[in-house]
Amino acid sequence: MQQDVIDYLPVYRRLSGWFAFTDLLVFDALLDAQAASGTTGDLLEIGVMHGKSAFFLSRKVRAAEELILCDLFEMPPPGAENAAENQASYPGVTRTAFETSAAQLATRAPRVLQMASALLGEHVEAGTIRFAHVDGGHLYPEVSSDVALSERLLATQDGWVAFDDIRTPHAPGVAAAVWPALARGPLEPVLITPTKLYAAREPDLTTRGELQRSLVGYGLELEEQKVFDHVVLRVVEPLDTGPYRRPSSWRGAAVTRGLGREELAQKVRGVAARLIRPR
Ligand SMILES: C[S@@+](CC[C@H](N)C(=O)[O-])C[C@H]1O[C@@H](n2cnc3c(N)ncnc32)[C@H](O)[C@@H]1O
Repeated sequence: MQQDVIDYLPVYRRLSGWFAFTDLLVFDALLDAQAASGTTGDLLEIGVMHGKSAFFLSRKVRAAEELILCDLFEMPPPGAENAAENQASYPGVTRTAFETSAAQLATRAPRVLQMASALLGEHVEAGTIRFAHVDGGHLYPEVSSDVALSERLLATQDGWVAFDDIRTPHAPGVAAAVWPALARGPLEPVLITPTKLYAAREPDLTTRGELQRSLVGYGLELEEQKVFDHVVLRVVEPLDTGPYRRPSSWRGAAVTRGLGREELAQKVRGVAARLIRPR
């Protein structure tokens, strides 16, 4: 619901992290769409860092549901490569700092599992998760394990998962792990944004329809792509906003508007003209 996004904006601006504004809109639309189709289950996040995405999830968890958050925080990762990745990308992430923020910013107390995500299967019951956000280790072994875990933990009907950094050049292991699993099933690709891929186990038609309707209502431009036998919606990104920036036009009521095809073509022509103009 748009009001949830508006209410979250001060927290979104205050916290550093890796949660693109477009994906905040998708989380909002998707979790409401599941509610509209009567899908229930817990919410899970792997990779919490300072809580930028987790605290939004805490606003969307419903009365009989639980928010489960998994992160190593300062714990040593299981392998040397995962350790090097964390040292380089997430220095200074601590459980204490997270808990301090959570006390102020989480609207529902989460269940925090401080451990490598590979161990989560021993703590979360199969088939109980309606939405999982996979944003932990970005190397092939960790993501492969998180994909297999999601397949097991998600509700078998209308259970959704978001895979972060699906197409970023600096984390090729994510795409390498995710796409073969989607080709094989049971997860099917449904939506792709500039940073995340959303897949689901037997997505409910009402959920899909409501999600699409809300995203269009938010002013995002969508186009259809075909992958394997599935129609995948792609959020067409505006050229003038980086994926992690809140478009300056977003004021709550006046939402972002995707560029139309002609506007997009004009922009591309403008950029190209500037690049080739003789000095
Ligand atoms: C990209 S950050 C998460 C960003 C966060 N979702 C946000 O919205 O800003 C990745 C997080 O994953 C955690 N992590 C890395 N490897 C992990 C693993 N094997 N198991 C669990 N968490 C891991 C890191 O400690 C780090 O906090």
